[in-house]
Amino acid sequence: MVPLYKFYKMRFDIITVLPELLESPLNHSIMQRARDKGLLDVHLHQLRDYATGKHRQVDDYQFGGGAGMVMKPEPIAACLDKLLAERQYDEIIYTTPDGVKLDQSVCNQLSLKNNLIVLCGHYKGVDDRIRQKYVTMEISIGDYVLSGGELAAAVLVDSVGRLIPGVLNDETSALFDSFQDNLLAPPVYTRPAVWNGMPVPDILLSGHEKNIEDWRHDQAVERTKARRPDLF
Ligand code: ADE
Repeated sequence: MVPLYKFYKMRFDIITVLPELLESPLNHSIMQRARDKGLLDVHLHQLRDYATGKHRQVDDYQFGGGAGMVMKPEPIAACLDKLLAERQYDEIIYTTPDGVKLDQSVCNQLSLKNNLIVLCGHYKGVDDRIRQKYVTMEISIGDYVLSGGELAAAVLVDSVGRLIPGVLNDETSALFDSFQDNLLAPPVYTRPAVWNGMPVPDILLSGHEKNIEDWRHDQAVERTKARRPDLF
């Protein structure tokens, strides 16, 4: 029987002036495996290819004055129109520090989508008319300002891509990640059983599955109380 996840595929189209910044994270480890398995398809689009004129300019001065350039609307619109003519997209996401904060629940929701566009902001951001006309979702990866939206896009593709059924080897393992049940993950140990005079907790060597599960849950609760009480 063909596993159900074989029918599930997710596609990201990322619009950027710096595709090189995204190549490495997408070409290694779990993301590469997801792409090799045909579960994740990521297409990088160089925004400059959609710009016109001798210099293929993608930015311009701000109306009203002020330091910093703004991304011009025409090249972005040309790229988006081309993609939108090719297929239906579930969301057009703009990565920006003033977007909705990315968390596990946003990742879970996005992992159920099929086709997503991610527009990476740069400089002072994109001309607001692009946000008004096309963008359906604005995502921030935290309250700090990056030099561009590419690293945020990489975080997005990684955190969402690993949730696609079949991407992780042990299909259940994403369910036990930190945050999946609003709890941080419990501590983990591997061999040797004693290292630097520090033994692994006895319970983990007991072979008693139920007790181990209860212990892990208690540890997760304690950790969350101590480190992230806001999650309760
Ligand atoms: N672009 C610049 N800073 C960002 C942030 N914190 N999140 C998403 N995109 C950004």
